[in-house]
Amino acid sequence: MNFEIKTGEELLLMVLLICLIFGALALLVSTLHLYLTVKNTLPTKEETKVDVYEGSSIWNRIFRVPPSSTNEQLLMAHAPDGIQELDNPTPGWFMGLFYITIICAIGYLITYHVIGDGDVMHQEYTAEMAAAEQAHEAYLKKFANAVNESNVTVLKDPKSIEAGKKLFDQNCTACHGAAAEGKVGPNLTDAYWLHGGTIKAVFKTITEGVPDKGMISWKKQLNPIQIQQVSSYIFSLQGSKPAGAKAPQGEEVKPEEVAQKQ
Ligand code: HEC
Repeated sequence: MNFEIKTGEELLLMVLLICLIFGALALLVSTLHLYLTVKNTLPTKEETKVDVYEGSSIWNRIFRVPPSSTNEQLLMAHAPDGIQELDNPTPGWFMGLFYITIICAIGYLITYHVIGDGDVMHQEYTAEMAAAEQAHEAYLKKFANAVNESNVTVLKDPKSIEAGKKLFDQNCTACHGAAAEGKVGPNLTDAYWLHGGTIKAVFKTITEGVPDKGMISWKKQLNPIQIQQVSSYIFSLQGSKPAGAKAPQGEEVKPEEVAQKQ
């Protein structure tokens, strides 16, 4: 069990819990007091140890419904304002349910709070979120292969660009520079391209690589969606003119040409 109080919310909860326990105790004591006071003032009724179900059907016995003929015996001693009251026993099935709830509550308390075997609500929530995340990833993976050289487009949403930047930082900066300004590999921020400047061409260059020129093929390490993300990130750097940019290599591809060829 872990009783560590970390947040203000937990502290408030603890205070409330303590108030609740004291409140319940106070209620119990005052009820007991009231009961004893009232009991002493009531006229005592002789104990009637009779079988109130005598002559009842089996059905009535199971559900503990005393026959109306026993009303006399069940009549309570007091009759405030002339109102008479029957002391009907609580039906057996109801008491049975009540005892079952008590047993369940004890089992619950031990499993969830003492042993900590079960997941309480927030653990359940975290587990479900993790499972959903996994399912989502599996789903994305399944559809990642749906992107290819002929249908790839430039992604513009910040999340994809961010993902692309991460991939670039991890895999590409060694040869292309931290700002894609070019090192061993060419500058990727200018309009000059060795292998074509459209998204489809860039996607193909990264996927297949140019092995004999030192640019490896990435199709084993990155899935098509990731290649699309890193390509989109490269496009987002177009015209950024980073410091120490490598001289242009290849042919210039004008933005309007890129737009046409996309
Ligand atoms: C081992 C060094 C190296 C790594 C790592 C590398 N590249 Fe390259 N890259 C090169 C070289 C060298 C070229 C130029 C190939 C040529 O001269 O034809 C190139 C070319 C390219 C081109 C074509 C540029 C043009 O002008 O057409 C793109 C796009 C590119 N790389 C993207 C990437 C991306 C994205 C990554 C990371 C996933 C990456 N590269 C990782 C070395 C590397």
